[in-house]
Amino acid sequence: MKNSITITDNRTNNSYEFEIKDATRGPSVVDISSFYAQTGMFTYDNGFTSTASCTSDITFIDGNKGELRYRGIEIEELATEHSFLAVCYLLLNSKLPNEEELLDFDLELRHRSLLHENLRHLFQAFPSGAHPMATLSAATAALATFYYDHLNISDESDYQEMARRIIAKMPTIAAFAYRHSIGAPFIHPDIDRGFAENFLYMLRAYPGGKMHRGIYGEYTIKEIEIKALDTIFTLHADHEQNASTTTVRGVASTGAHPYVAISAGISALWGRAHGGANESVIQQLEMIGSIENVDKFIARAKDPDDDFRLMGFGHRVYKNFDPRAKVLKGLQEQLKDELKLDSNLMQIANKIEEIALNDEYFISRKLYPNIDFYSGVILTALKIPTSMFTPIFVIGRTVGWITQWIEFKKTKGMKITRPRQLYIGK
Ligand code: ACO
Repeated sequence: MKNSITITDNRTNNSYEFEIKDATRGPSVVDISSFYAQTGMFTYDNGFTSTASCTSDITFIDGNKGELRYRGIEIEELATEHSFLAVCYLLLNSKLPNEEELLDFDLELRHRSLLHENLRHLFQAFPSGAHPMATLSAATAALATFYYDHLNISDESDYQEMARRIIAKMPTIAAFAYRHSIGAPFIHPDIDRGFAENFLYMLRAYPGGKMHRGIYGEYTIKEIEIKALDTIFTLHADHEQNASTTTVRGVASTGAHPYVAISAGISALWGRAHGGANESVIQQLEMIGSIENVDKFIARAKDPDDDFRLMGFGHRVYKNFDPRAKVLKGLQEQLKDELKLDSNLMQIANKIEEIALNDEYFISRKLYPNIDFYSGVILTALKIPTSMFTPIFVIGRTVGWITQWIEFKKTKGMKITRPRQLYIGK
């Protein structure tokens, strides 16, 4: 075989040949699916740092260049020139919508944003103060009890309907999860509001749909806030085979319901090594308190005997600036004056960034700020409660998870996810 790699077992001098498969962009892969059959051994790859688990044509990342594309289009272009709903359409249909298609898509999502009344009662079962991520995961799994025909769906239009439904309902579930956590009455979605605006409305409004006016006599949802949140959703929409998406695909591989798979993805996202980092970044900035303390915490992050890590720094794939973080940094600059961004938090964040980007520890390990480092300061300015930072990630990522679920279902020959182990017990 020409396009192949040969591995020699130095104990026996036996050689084994494996096919190399080329990507349209990025590194090729060695197809080791016959490795065990040929050698009697497994491969070992802690954390899957060198493993491609599937083929995909949804999202491409070049971590060394700091490049991210959805369906071939660069994230910078999508975040600045298109709405989040257009990006959802792109992920689901492999093409950007025309005006009419976007209008239809938007209208359908507005109509599907209501929750079944019975699902509403589920929230009452949880204690007040419950973290919205836990409630969100539970309520998303519960959605599978209302739409249970997943075993009978197999064509594209069924898959797409499953997708549009969950994308439309996620902001409502997230807003209900928050309002329940603080003991506030639920606000139903308003059909006259677009996706991002509706979410802010469900978080902020009073019963009867009343929005109070700010001290300057303006309605509290500003156009600039809607645009900022919409951009944040776009930046989170998909990110190839990360921990939560891999979880969704793993559940999909058993044939379980797509909404249960997404519920599992939400749980995987919650951890602070993944999506939960955005909440931890703000908590950490608040703990640091002032720029005088930054050096002390940088020293702790570098100390191998201290568990402390700089939240919002480092990434498994990006060994250069996270392109999403670049867009957010630009957005932060734009919003600074208009939304009165917390200048103390921004100063601390800027100081951390400045020190880390020039420090040998961070340079040698290629640790750059990631998306979560900047999103918190913006979300705080949008008056989003800290506990809702990760649910906002969920609202943006739902389209990515369901698109990956559809791709899994449509890829011929996909197997149940079932890795092996290196047994070291008795
Ligand atoms: N602060 C200090 N040191 C760090 C950090 C950090 N944030 N991140 C990694 N390192 C160090 C590690 O201690 C390790 O050092 P060593 O080689 O001396 O042992 C080295 O950099 C490599 O770190 P790993 O944990 O092996 O890298 P991995 O790719 O497995 O982890 C991760 C990536 C989980 C994102 C890590 O960088 C981290 O914990 N960051 C902080 C949490 C965070 O911001 N998560 C959000 C990621 S983006 C997202 O999911 C949306």
